[in-house]
Amino acid sequence: MNIIRTSSYEEMSMQAAKIIIKQVKNNPALTLGLATGSTPIGLYKELINDHHNNGTSYKDVHTINLDEYIGLPKDNPSSYHFFMKHQLFNYIDLPIEQTNVPNGTAEDLERECERYEEKIRQLGGIDLQILGIGQNGHIGFNEPGTSFESRTHIVQLTENTIEVNSRFFNTIDEVPTKSITMGIQTILECKEIILLASGASKAKAIARMINGPVSEEFPASCLKKHPNVTIIADSDALQLV
Ligand code: GLP
Repeated sequence: MNIIRTSSYEEMSMQAAKIIIKQVKNNPALTLGLATGSTPIGLYKELINDHHNNGTSYKDVHTINLDEYIGLPKDNPSSYHFFMKHQLFNYIDLPIEQTNVPNGTAEDLERECERYEEKIRQLGGIDLQILGIGQNGHIGFNEPGTSFESRTHIVQLTENTIEVNSRFFNTIDEVPTKSITMGIQTILECKEIILLASGASKAKAIARMINGPVSEEFPASCLKKHPNVTIIADSDALQLV
C-alpha cells in the first residue's frame, strides 16, 4: 500500500484529481470506478474545475459506481444516481449513457447484480477505482463479515451505517435498510485503487486497515491483498497510524 499524507482535505482532493487527470490523458477511454459520500466531493470539484480550465475530456471515459440504495428512484435527492449527476456528471463532457450506477429499483435485483458484473466485464474491467471508507471499515457497502469472494450483491446495511448515513436524509427512518454494492472480489479485480480518507472520524478505521490483520471482519483490510493501492489521506485521518 502506498500512503500519501496530505495536510488538508483540499490537498487530498487535489492529489487524487492529479492522478485521475493524468490517467485520463494517457488513456482517454479509461474505465473509472467512482464512489459517493462526502469524501470524494472535493475531488469531483477539482475534476470539474480542471475540465473547465484545461479542457480535460471525458467523452470516451466510462464510469462504474460502487453502490446504490435499494428502493430509491434515480431522481430521489438521496440516491447515488442523483448525487453523481449533481456532484460530477452534469458538469463534465461525459456522455450520461457511459455512466453506470446500480439500479436500486430494478424489479429483479439479483438479475441487476449479474447485469452489473457483466457490464464491468464488457468494459474490460475497471482501470482505476476510487474508494472511501466507512467508520466500520466498509468499502462500497460491503459491511463487516462480507466474503472476500463476493461479487455485486444485495446488502443489509448495519445500524451503524444507517445512523452515519442518516445525515443525508431528513430523518433516520428515511434511510433505506438495503443496498446493492460491488463485491469485495469485484473491487479486488480493479487494476488500480485509490482510497480517500479525511478527518478524525476515519482515524480508527484507517489505522486498523493499515496495521490490523487481513480479515473479513474488517472489509477494507482486503486491500492489503491488492498489488496497486494508494491511500490518500489527511493528517487527521492518519493520526493513529
Ligand atoms: C457510504 C458509501 C461508501 C462511502 C462511505 C463513507 O456508506 N456507500 O462508498 O465510502 O459512505 O462516506 P463518507 O465519505 O461520507 O464518510
